[in-house]
Amino acid sequence: MGSKVLNVKFTNGKEMPMVGLGTYARQADPGQFRQAVEWGIEAGYRHIDTASCYKNEEEVGEGINNKINDGLVTRDQLFVTTKVWNDCHAEEQVVPALKESLARLKLDYVDLYLVHWPFSANGKGEDLGIDYLETWKGMEQVVKLGLAKSIGVSNFNEEQLERLLNNSTIKPVVNQFEINPTLTQHKLVDFCKKHSVVPVAYTPLGLISEARPEFAGKDAIKTDPKFGALAEKYGKTRAQIALRYLVQRGIPVIPKSFTKSRIAENLNLFDFELSDSEMALVDSFNIDHRCVPATPFKALKNYPF
Ligand SMILES: NC(=O)c1ccc[n+]([C@@H]2O[C@H](COP(=O)([O-])OP(=O)(O)OC[C@H]3O[C@@H](n4cnc5c(N)ncnc54)[C@H](OP(=O)(O)O)[C@@H]3O)[C@@H](O)[C@H]2O)c1
Repeated sequence: MGSKVLNVKFTNGKEMPMVGLGTYARQADPGQFRQAVEWGIEAGYRHIDTASCYKNEEEVGEGINNKINDGLVTRDQLFVTTKVWNDCHAEEQVVPALKESLARLKLDYVDLYLVHWPFSANGKGEDLGIDYLETWKGMEQVVKLGLAKSIGVSNFNEEQLERLLNNSTIKPVVNQFEINPTLTQHKLVDFCKKHSVVPVAYTPLGLISEARPEFAGKDAIKTDPKFGALAEKYGKTRAQIALRYLVQRGIPVIPKSFTKSRIAENLNLFDFELSDSEMALVDSFNIDHRCVPATPFKALKNYPF
């Protein structure tokens, strides 16, 4: 197993492990989320990412609580994130939405609560037209009530993040968005860093992992010999090179896996370092390709992409 996972520090003094376990899956067998979380904690993950819309908070919470009850970890050694969904964006809906998430997770607080998307929409995908600045007032309440230690956003573009930073009392500590070697996002990452907002990479494996037919022909990174040689040089996989590249840019990553060996593999990133030219090589695979374009939401006013 690689050396210890590093932490990143927020402006509010709280710390978050640089590698977390993602838990989104389109399909899962009963018990699969719980099992992944248990394997994750056993492998050394101390950071778990979920969301109310993943419909897995019960199982994720079960996995967490099982490992706490086993005595393997204490609650304060774990960093748990969940997110408020698009249909709970009115100011007065945010606190109840988090209380419901906490009841499903069987936890007293989360470490980080995120606004999942900058737009609001009902279950039919119709625009509710609620300004995220209003949602944010509810987010500030959850901190005051001790239900979340920190708050942040997800999928906010530069303009939306700037407007929020200029119109908030408690500042977002995180913006979670898609970043990987084929969507390197230098501009938004630099903007976040300049404003002390930690950019967190979702879908960090990008086209290395996905085999969706719509991406056929774009995933040269899976077979490119130069990328393969880089992985071989360090005795790592292509996935580990992609994750190391992000971590080395100062970007925390939250890879998801249901596979025990990959869960361990994705954490094992801290016993090697890419040189400047190797970082540039990984960077050269950028094609600004989004695995998560959220196209069903494209017509909404605050669609960010
Ligand atoms: N805020 C948002 O809007 C948002 C959007 C998307 C994702 N997220 C979060 O980010 C997390 C990660 O994103 P993601 O799940 O979309 O993508 P990802 O973590 O980049 O990729 C997951 C896929 O890669 C496979 N995989 C995992 N480790 C691998 C390895 N070492 N080698 C090869 N394949 C590997 C997994 O397969 P197996 O499971 O079969 O091993 C799974 O199919 C999510 O789970 C979720 O928590 C947030």
